[in-house]
Amino acid sequence: NILAPRQYSAGLNLNNRDETDSLLAGLERWKSHQWQARPQVRISSLTTYQPDIVVGCPFSAHDKVGLVQWAHPDDVYAIIDTAQRAFTHWNNEPRPAFAAQRKTWLLTLADLLETHRHELVMLCVREAGKTLQDAVDEIREAVDFCRYYSGFIDEGFAEPIALPGPTGELNQLHYEGRGVWFCISPWNFPLAIFIGQISAALAAGNAVIAKPAEATSLIAARAVELAYAAGVPQELLQCVPGSGPILGDVFCNDARIAGVAFTGSHKTAHKIAMDLAHRRGPIATFIAETGGQNAMIVDSTALPEQVVKDVLRSAFGSAGQRCSALRALYLQSDIADEVIRLLRGAMNELVVGNPGDVSTDVGPLISMQAKNSLLAHIRHLKSHGKVLAQVDNVPEEGFFLAPVAYEIASISELDDEHFGPILHVIRYQNTDLPKVIEDINNTGFGLTLSVHSRNPEVSGFIARTARVGNVYINRDQIGAVVGVQPFGGLGRSGTGPKAGGPDYVKRFACERTVSVNT
Ligand code: SER
Repeated sequence: NILAPRQYSAGLNLNNRDETDSLLAGLERWKSHQWQARPQVRISSLTTYQPDIVVGCPFSAHDKVGLVQWAHPDDVYAIIDTAQRAFTHWNNEPRPAFAAQRKTWLLTLADLLETHRHELVMLCVREAGKTLQDAVDEIREAVDFCRYYSGFIDEGFAEPIALPGPTGELNQLHYEGRGVWFCISPWNFPLAIFIGQISAALAAGNAVIAKPAEATSLIAARAVELAYAAGVPQELLQCVPGSGPILGDVFCNDARIAGVAFTGSHKTAHKIAMDLAHRRGPIATFIAETGGQNAMIVDSTALPEQVVKDVLRSAFGSAGQRCSALRALYLQSDIADEVIRLLRGAMNELVVGNPGDVSTDVGPLISMQAKNSLLAHIRHLKSHGKVLAQVDNVPEEGFFLAPVAYEIASISELDDEHFGPILHVIRYQNTDLPKVIEDINNTGFGLTLSVHSRNPEVSGFIARTARVGNVYINRDQIGAVVGVQPFGGLGRSGTGPKAGGPDYVKRFACERTVSVNT
């Protein structure tokens, strides 16, 4: 099921003046709009609700983006009950009809996401601090997920797959939903990953309870409204805004949850795995996509200008807030000084600022908490490393952090993923290459890695021996495209299967065989 080019969302070309002008004109209407997010199921009058929480904007203290009401843990029982009833109802429908219905829902949702692009772009800018380009790409990826995953519904969900057997015996393999999936999505891809999880779970015939990240509930709630407008029944898909630690615990410990799809930190993934392992009842399916300690290896045959362009995009694009982002740049000693010189110059040109401006390269971090944690790491680096380059001009209001590059001795100095625009540079000798790969593998993460080399033996060796999910050669290492670079890692980076890949939807399904003695 390879997505043909014409099926991809067209996106927008922000280098084209007309397209940019039309985008900016379309955004105008949403500049001071306020959105709302509320749980759909609220049962108990005994439940005391917190007042609505005001959702702020990561780059403007005055901007009130909307109001969110968190779900209460007391309501979890009813939320799951609603989902379970919906699953039973739909799963008893004739398979071809239910499959066709799901396909229509997902394709209609894809169209609606595209027609509501201006509103969603503005939400991504104001609630998540995404730059215009990132916001446009975000909507595009969400659309691609819906269309791509809908293509798998024809593979065993509508009609069973015939299997071989002796004469007089009919064997069939059926794919169908597992039950109720609990999907936990991150703030850094508040629409794309949110929709990616939901669309795959729905494609496989499940009921879905989606808990968006606390920081980006409004985007999620709006996406779910569009799913309803596309025809998805409210009982089959519920959006549950609220606290990750509080709600996550209650949902994951409930044996009626058949599967959990999670994207976030590896620490939280471990916690969920433990909860699922310890609960009684059915064994849950768990899909986790977590972070990375992603490296780029540059040897002396690389083209320095191209390296610098790809480093900028990989390390500082999206303010480094991608799990795929470059964290450790390995430079072979012969080329290191030249690359660092060019990098310094290029970093000076970076525009850090209002993500709604077309000229902005780097937007804000998601929160003050994120900024403080990165500042603590920078203090540590200052006392141990050598600063190579730092961007100077950064707005004071908002959660901005100046992109910075430090030289360190080894990737093993990095205790954990530092989720922001901080690049660590490490020099290596040609003869050290096997040790470089051993060090990268020893981090235990295995998400993205890029190689810049014009020697195919070097890039081939690295691609073979580095234990990562996504290898990129002579290019940047972010922005995996649905169906083209299925995305996801190994080890501490995730369980697989890869999002946007051919095995993803099936992991949300259960397989049953029916054998008939004819
Ligand atoms: N899929 C994103 C990328 O490739 C990261 O989550 O950048």
